[in-house]
Amino acid sequence: MALTFRPTNYQSLNDALLLAKWLSDPAIRYLAQPQKDEESLRNPETAELILERNQPSNAHRAPIDLILELDGEPVGHADVLFDPPHRLTREGKVAWLSILIGEKKHHRRGFGREAMLHLEKLAKKAGANCAEVGVFEFNEPSLRLMRSLGYEEIGKLADFTWWNGRRWADIRLAKSL
Ligand SMILES: CC(C)(COP(=O)(O)OP(=O)(O)OC[C@H]1O[C@@H](n2cnc3c(N)ncnc32)[C@H](O)[C@@H]1OP(=O)(O)O)[C@@H](O)C(=O)NCCC(=O)NCCS
Repeated sequence: MALTFRPTNYQSLNDALLLAKWLSDPAIRYLAQPQKDEESLRNPETAELILERNQPSNAHRAPIDLILELDGEPVGHADVLFDPPHRLTREGKVAWLSILIGEKKHHRRGFGREAMLHLEKLAKKAGANCAEVGVFEFNEPSLRLMRSLGYEEIGKLADFTWWNGRRWADIRLAKSL
């Protein structure tokens, strides 16, 4: 089974519904987006909000924004921002990478690693010389993935997200491209 990538389509509801489903899944939500408190953790992500955030008029939307597919079946999402204000790395052109394998049955099959390598290649082609990621401190699978790809910890933002009755830090890791 080959992993392929296509641009996310924010002109129709389909991809937004898919993203909303993945980002609302209790097994994924706490790992993928920072949460303010218990209530925000329980609130579902909506397709309408996703579409609103990704309208062409929004200058902050990701210039590289992809749906991951396995033989035509959507299984995840990945995007790249360049020099976003929240990056810690202040030198060079920085690519901020995010990935999500939305279907749990496809976890631990090498697709996260493959998606990261694909994003790195695209980011480098676009002129970035450094990649930065943010991983919540309790997300061991993702921390292991990033470290195995050569990312090194460059900082820690305390009290960044809410999960399991308390606040947790965001670990920032970076790698030269
Ligand atoms: C984290 C995530 C991206 C990893 O992708 P994946 O396709 O499941 O992982 P891969 O099969 O590519 O694994 C690559 C490496 O990551 C690490 N890893 C991945 N899942 C792991 C797990 N459950 N436990 C321990 N290590 C894990 C391992 O080092 C693994 O290498 P190995 O299999 O040779 O030991 C994916 O599980 C996911 O999207 N999870 C939910 C949302 C999320 O956490 N997103 C990332 C936010 S920063």
